[in-house]
Amino acid sequence: MKVAIIGLGSVGKGVAGMLAKKDLGIQVTGVADSRSGVISPAGINIGEMLAHKQKSGLCGSTGITAEDVVKKADYDILIEVSPTNALSGEPATGYIRAALGRKKHVVTSNKGPIALAFHDLRELARKNGVALRYEATVAGAIPIMHTLEHGLAGNEIIALYGVLNGTCNFILTRMADEGLTYEQALMEAREMGYAEADPTYDVQGIDAAIKLVILANTIWDNGVRLSDVDRTGIDLLTADALRLAEEEGCTIRLIAEAMPRKKLLRVSPRILSKTHPLVVEGTLNALTLETDMAKEITLIGRGAGSIETASAIIGDLLYIRDQYVQRT
Ligand code: HSE
Repeated sequence: MKVAIIGLGSVGKGVAGMLAKKDLGIQVTGVADSRSGVISPAGINIGEMLAHKQKSGLCGSTGITAEDVVKKADYDILIEVSPTNALSGEPATGYIRAALGRKKHVVTSNKGPIALAFHDLRELARKNGVALRYEATVAGAIPIMHTLEHGLAGNEIIALYGVLNGTCNFILTRMADEGLTYEQALMEAREMGYAEADPTYDVQGIDAAIKLVILANTIWDNGVRLSDVDRTGIDLLTADALRLAEEEGCTIRLIAEAMPRKKLLRVSPRILSKTHPLVVEGTLNALTLETDMAKEITLIGRGAGSIETASAIIGDLLYIRDQYVQRT
């Protein structure tokens, strides 16, 4: 099976590295970053490509663009892992459309296209008989989409509540446990590669709201948008507020919640008892689903990080291999 990778930041490097390390029978025939690209029908030597990227900042030649890789490389699945643009979704949405138009499967961690153009992209994929999978867009390594699609198939999902942004959770944990200031904790989160390229997406609750929109549209197909989410971030939260919560045996977490029956779609800092299942530490994410048959299910796992996100991408790749590629 052949794949092409668009985007060689933290997630792209993680995916490429894991494909090189694990013997999954997956060949990489195209890679592009924001300034260069490489196309090789015989397969790219990932180790050499990553070393070149490390040394020069480029994965290949400046004469080859991401668009060239999407439109010309020979692949079964496009892995679109370029940074999220939540306002326009571009250029990633264009890449995904072009790949689906070529009847190629797409796996993405890019939240912009899925939050903004889900309906259109899903219809295009259906029309062309290919898969569009986006497990990595929500809650990092937690297999939430697979759980909804398979494990909870047939259940009515009544509501969901979750910690969906690892950076905010890391900041809140570090402020409460180590007494760091908000700025110090944010700097650490950026250094460790958890934060978005523009960390205001994280701290203003935009990233969590985007993930909530993706989940709501996946579960209820209700066409909600980012502007429908009632949103408050953690950027104005003080160390004093956290200390006061601690004095009551509580703490603060940025909680995303959706309950269609009450038309509720909200992201906000909430005071929770320290024993609450959603009070997880560091970059962990947690998600409680309220369902009719299974009742309450809470999933906890790593919500950010290069290899953790690669886990979700590789799960999608192998799902497509088993469901589509090996059957044709
Ligand atoms: N910046 C995001 C987070 C990355 O901190 O959760 C994963 O989507």
